[in-house]
Amino acid sequence: MHIAMIGAGYVGLVSGACFSDFGHQVVCIDSNAEKVASLNNGEMPIHEPGLAELVARNVGQGRLSFASDLKSAVSEAEVVFIAVGTPSRRGDGHADLSYVYAAAREIGTVLPERAVVVTKSTVPVGTGDEVERIIREENPAATVAVVSNPEFLREGAAIRDFKHPDRIVIGTDDPRARSVMAEVYRPLHLNASPILYTDRRTAELTKYAANSFLATKIAFINEIADLAEKVGANVQEVARGIGLDNRIGQKFLHAGPGFGGSCFPKDAMALIKTGQDNESPVRIVETVVAVNDQRKRAMARKVANAFGGNLRGKSIAVLGVTFKPDTDDMRDAPSIPLITALQDMGAEVRVFDPVGMEQAKNVFENVTFCENAYRCAKGCHALVIVTEWEQFRALDLKELSTIMACPVIVDLRNIYSPEEVRRNGFLYCGVGRPKSVAY
Ligand SMILES: NC(=O)c1ccc[n+]([C@@H]2O[C@H](COP(=O)([O-])OP(=O)(O)OC[C@H]3O[C@@H](n4cnc5c(N)ncnc54)[C@H](O)[C@@H]3O)[C@@H](O)[C@H]2O)c1
Repeated sequence: MHIAMIGAGYVGLVSGACFSDFGHQVVCIDSNAEKVASLNNGEMPIHEPGLAELVARNVGQGRLSFASDLKSAVSEAEVVFIAVGTPSRRGDGHADLSYVYAAAREIGTVLPERAVVVTKSTVPVGTGDEVERIIREENPAATVAVVSNPEFLREGAAIRDFKHPDRIVIGTDDPRARSVMAEVYRPLHLNASPILYTDRRTAELTKYAANSFLATKIAFINEIADLAEKVGANVQEVARGIGLDNRIGQKFLHAGPGFGGSCFPKDAMALIKTGQDNESPVRIVETVVAVNDQRKRAMARKVANAFGGNLRGKSIAVLGVTFKPDTDDMRDAPSIPLITALQDMGAEVRVFDPVGMEQAKNVFENVTFCENAYRCAKGCHALVIVTEWEQFRALDLKELSTIMACPVIVDLRNIYSPEEVRRNGFLYCGVGRPKSVAY
């Protein structure tokens, strides 16, 4: 099939590359001409494991190409995916749909007759109706079908998630669009990936419900972690104790600095707004967002507590600034409010991240960027692990204890054994572990 993917970001580029790997003919279109130029030079604009190889293979075999001119790319397509960003709108936090609607307007003028338009961007309920209206307005003669096909991939494991999804959700009432989508996903259907066919509004809401539910799990275990610290219990064992129950499941029960990233915060906010607009508030999600927002600065107080609440004159090494490992994405990363709070408390902050340094330089001011974890820790009063990159799991504690000004480790991801860290002469502070072990 001929597929046009509008937006070559984390979702569009991965989806386009995977569809081409299935054998489809794909062109990824992005309005950012620099991004398209670098892709045409074989350079990846994002860090995603396995992506460069996947793209190179499919470009080499002539199934994948990149363009910035939407008109010529779309006019050949049987299926046009919209995978542009839907960030939080300034002012009210609802989803900013301006990129989606702009793409719909551009498509409308050039859409081949009978092409199927698919919204892969995460969009609030009713957006598909508006996309359809815009396209009809631009092109009254087109027999257009607009489908909702939300994406559930995770950055850092995006290719695997795309090729082996837990489920594919396809929202349309149009039988022709449904059979086109079945053809698009046929290779995954053959792999027995479940495909849920539903109506468009249900598909749109499913995506927000999924992300908000996962965010709720994280916020829940974080509050249990706080309680565990107060009552002398261990949140990791609580998480295991509840997670082994199949009705609960073990995933998304890792206590930490609060959820962040390109999706959960903005999607939870957008669901809240949809609820309020429809006089059906989702109060649980409202609380989740509030609890999570407060948590980020609370993590800075956790660091300060190791110094009697005062960070003035202290140097703090922060390891990991991306919102999770294996991505360079810093959108809404917990490191951002944490570092700001550390600075507000008077600390000097040093930073190292294995791949996020370039992005970090656009985000942080008055921060010292270091070449590796040890240079970062040198002379510091505390080492704070914010993102659990693999390479931070086995730091040489002996070496750290000799180069740091003060032996304090604040492990916001619980990746170290408190006993082992303390054996090496450190004061250790994890998340949701008993105080007798934590300090
Ligand atoms: N990042 C994730 O992990 C993830 C996972 C699931 C769903 N989503 C959703 O997918 C959507 C895309 O997210 P992303 O992270 O890939 O965003 P992104 O910002 O990485 O990529 C969006 C791309 O679209 C391009 N673009 C914007 N308007 C355009 C236009 N009119 N024509 C052509 N290109 C245009 C931008 O230049 C950018 O490269 C969002 O709705 C997001 O919520 C993201």
